[in-house]
Amino acid sequence: MPRLDQTQAPLLETLQLMAQRPHAPFYAPGHKRGQGIDSELRTWLGSAMFQADLPELPELDNLFAPQGAIATALELAAAAFGAAESRFLVNGSTSGIIAAILATCGNGEKIILPRNIHQSVISGLILSGAMPIFVSPEYDPEWDLVYSISADGVAAALAAHPDAKAIMIVYPTYHGVCGHIAEMSEIAHQQGIPLLVDEAHGPHFAFHGDFPIAALAAGADLTVQSIHKVLGAMTQASMLHVQGQLIDRDRLNLALQMVQSSSPSYLLLASLDAARRLMAIAGQELMAKTLALAATARAKIAEIPGLSVFNGPTLPSPGFCHLDPTRLTVKVTDLGLTGYQADEILHEQLGVTAELPGLQHLTFIISLGNTAADIDRLVAGFSRLAHPPVSPLFKGGWGGSMLSPEGWGGSMLSPEGWGGAIAHPISALTPREAFFAPRETLPIAATVGRISAELVCPYPPGIPVLIPGEAIAQNSLEFLQKILANGGTITGCSQPDLTTLKVVISP
Ligand SMILES: Cc1ncc(COP(=O)(O)O)c(C=O)c1O
Repeated sequence: MPRLDQTQAPLLETLQLMAQRPHAPFYAPGHKRGQGIDSELRTWLGSAMFQADLPELPELDNLFAPQGAIATALELAAAAFGAAESRFLVNGSTSGIIAAILATCGNGEKIILPRNIHQSVISGLILSGAMPIFVSPEYDPEWDLVYSISADGVAAALAAHPDAKAIMIVYPTYHGVCGHIAEMSEIAHQQGIPLLVDEAHGPHFAFHGDFPIAALAAGADLTVQSIHKVLGAMTQASMLHVQGQLIDRDRLNLALQMVQSSSPSYLLLASLDAARRLMAIAGQELMAKTLALAATARAKIAEIPGLSVFNGPTLPSPGFCHLDPTRLTVKVTDLGLTGYQADEILHEQLGVTAELPGLQHLTFIISLGNTAADIDRLVAGFSRLAHPPVSPLFKGGWGGSMLSPEGWGGSMLSPEGWGGAIAHPISALTPREAFFAPRETLPIAATVGRISAELVCPYPPGIPVLIPGEAIAQNSLEFLQKILANGGTITGCSQPDLTTLKVVISP
């Protein structure tokens, strides 16, 4: 096949042409190329954006039956990311993950999964009726970080459940930890089932040799990537890639249509085409620059007393193969602060905003959009955090927010964080059965040992602590309350303050 010309951006170019074409619009969207948009919004964002907010005009192709500009843009994306075929997603990786499950597992069929999956996987399980076979991920108590599942864990789950229809892994995790994906791919293929990968945080891996291997290169059959999280696409714009014969393309296409809007935004789609072009042309150079920025940040922050930078486990772990160096996790507990407190100070007082606060640490995404000035500000922010200003106002540290030794700072160092919260889940019902089961609302203290009817999820990172169908453990509730007490946010459930919880009524 002749090499594709990656300097073209067919969807972007066609959209530009159509946005400029004079015509009388009698189609949706109702703002008609910006003419019906609130003037403050138009003045702020500029009229070009609204002129390009167009529907499926004949020239613009159709996302769910691509034959023209979108089909060519998808071919270019597949070539750039190393796939046989690609799909554009306008409802985030969330929609791709749900579709991946719907495409491979039916009602009552088994799927092998790590317990630290993103909440979108639970939606996929509820919609498909698939039965999760959870494998406990490896856990690092020193950092309260959940790693990947191990290849041995996957092999054991498959030996116990040889009728499983698919394996899905998270690669990398939100914190950039990558497991032994090539081994897991081999295990899946020996059994003749596909390896599905939630690669939401890893779309940049294909573009520089210093990153962990990309999921497709390691043999994944299907991978879902949040181009918007790490590369240059707009929020919600993701991609799904497939290769090999283990994924039924027709079923995948139907599933993707089921979980996405029938009016996909061309602004998002064009942003995917543009993000692909940028990476195909300049990805190596951009990633080299990003890696250099990350290396500087890692080195400088590690030198600040009271702070530690996560570089991997102290002892080898079967759940850890590589770390994405552009994912920076900084532990702040030695400053007497929780990650949530440090996040608040950095964001509100020091002009630095992290991606993901946790109890012990903060995680930062360093990507192609960052500059040396951003890194300087990050390092300066951490220096300031470590050396609070000397003033009566800051007597107890940052606004008196320092922890007493008996506070969370002490207990956080015990392995009761994520590890305890999601350890040994007992599934009594499938997520789908629990979702549709009769339920009752109980005060939180009365729910231990009952079957959760709700998904309860600290956000970020969006990893559910309670899953519909699972028995509720004391550890999990304590962890959730600890997160709330420290300023974290809980989503997915009817009472985000966790005063009550819905449980399945026992038959
Ligand atoms: C590991 C993981 N998978 C999937 C998703 C969903 O991605 P999106 O926001 O693109 O829907 C997220 C979002 O944070 C995530 O962290």
